[in-house]
Amino acid sequence: MIYCVETMKKYISEFYEKIYRANAGMKHPVATGERLAADLGYSRRVLDLIPAQLWDNFLPCGNPLPYLKPVSGDLILNLGCGAGVDSLVLMLEKPAGIEIVNLDIVFHVLSMATRALPLGPVPNFVCADAESLPFVRGCFKWVILNGVLNLFSDKSRLISEISRVVNPGGIVAGADLCRTAPLPDYFRDEPDAWAWCMSGALTEDELTASFSLAGFEKKAFKPEKLDEYFDRAVFVFGKKR
Ligand SMILES: C[S@@+](CC[C@H](N)C(=O)[O-])C[C@H]1O[C@@H](n2cnc3c(N)ncnc32)[C@H](O)[C@@H]1O
Repeated sequence: MIYCVETMKKYISEFYEKIYRANAGMKHPVATGERLAADLGYSRRVLDLIPAQLWDNFLPCGNPLPYLKPVSGDLILNLGCGAGVDSLVLMLEKPAGIEIVNLDIVFHVLSMATRALPLGPVPNFVCADAESLPFVRGCFKWVILNGVLNLFSDKSRLISEISRVVNPGGIVAGADLCRTAPLPDYFRDEPDAWAWCMSGALTEDELTASFSLAGFEKKAFKPEKLDEYFDRAVFVFGKKR
């Protein structure tokens, strides 16, 4: 089967819109939510402060947050933020004065997240396509990419757009499935397997090559075995100065 890039993008955004609207109690084929966050090492103290409504819409592939070390005044982009849980955790754990922009293509989840926010500093929310970011060149010091990269069939287009908005010396910290063996054909032919970050998974070498073509160097890669085809991996790339 052949998928057109724009048709796939529409399928994936509608897929997440449906998940976010169905919300509580929905059975996913992958682990999600608060229990997964605890398994991934998000700190219990902070997790207790996240509003309950956000948990059913937390769909991460890993925990890249320990690799983010923002200081006051830094601007952070949470790309494909979903309910924005990573941003809330950062605001609760990191120094005051950091500013976070949450961006997602699904308006409904951003609207739900703004309504569920606890009192305190409010992050910014932007509804836009990650392949066409509404920001000027070099404005972000940090980018979070949690469970997002594998949704894109043309990774070079996404990564070069990220490279445009990250300043030299800036960091992309993300998590996604990484492919450790060739995938059977049914992965390629099943759009839901794209939407669950499986069919678009890269090997570690392919991931490194994709970022290095856009001017990044690998800072960290931490895989954890998931099954016969995939690792769950946290990756960190720094933009060369
Ligand atoms: C697996 S979820 C991860 C959400 C979030 N990072 C988290 O950890 O809960 C993938 C997210 O990417 C968003 N997304 C998919 N395609 C996108 C695009 N072209 N531009 C921006 N966001 C997109 C989806 O709407 C969804 O919220």
